[in-house]
Amino acid sequence: MKILAINGSGRSNGNTKRLLKECEYIMKDTDEFEVIDLSTYDFSGCIGCEGCAKTYQCVIRDDMQKLYPKIEEADGLVLASPTYFYNISSKMKAFIERLYPYEIFHKEDRHVWLSYTEVFGLKYGLVIGVCEQLKEEDMGFTIEAMSMPLQSLGYRVVDEVKVLNLFTRHEAEKDDESLEKVRDGMRKLYQTIELKQELLSAKRSAK
Ligand SMILES: Cc1cc2nc3c(=O)[nH]c(=O)nc-3n(C[C@H](O)[C@H](O)[C@H](O)COP(=O)(O)O)c2cc1C
Repeated sequence: MKILAINGSGRSNGNTKRLLKECEYIMKDTDEFEVIDLSTYDFSGCIGCEGCAKTYQCVIRDDMQKLYPKIEEADGLVLASPTYFYNISSKMKAFIERLYPYEIFHKEDRHVWLSYTEVFGLKYGLVIGVCEQLKEEDMGFTIEAMSMPLQSLGYRVVDEVKVLNLFTRHEAEKDDESLEKVRDGMRKLYQTIELKQELLSAKRSAK
């Protein structure tokens, strides 16, 4: 099993990264788990050129090109972002915009569309929001801003984890409750994919 985790934080070693590290403990030795720190990748948001409508690929040559194969190979995607002004970070927003080639529109009627995963196989996602304040409302749109695009891209989002009350860079390390919440979300993602793989293998051996 391959799971790709996307860290949208501006600090590559902050709370979001620590929480993603916790996800790794759910994976088994034979699995692959990679965390991508978007802050170390050089790319910007979609420029709306619609080049992908012709080629089914993003035509901008930047670091997103390193990420597309990883996204396509992964069975599951974890999107994690700190709350920046009630929303996701700009880097996470840019990343999501650049997933536009995975939404395919009919050339004659743009109201007819499908997602890449509908063609090549449904996938699964987990969304994690991290914020400083104590109330969920202070997280604003952080969760929805990741969950809605992911769902429209044909990922079933198995859990949405809201981690509150983390501010300084290393606070997550001491926050057992938050670490457990994240592990639980990751366990759901892992077991959902595991179930799919078991069913596929049972079907194959029944033939
Ligand atoms: C530009 C900016 C805006 C922020 N806006 C919010 C906010 O609207 N609500 C909130 O609760 N925390 C907000 N925070 C706090 C971060 O979400 C919090 O410190 C988080 O733990 C950072 O995660 P990181 O360590 O992975 O970078 C903001 C932080 C920054 C840098």
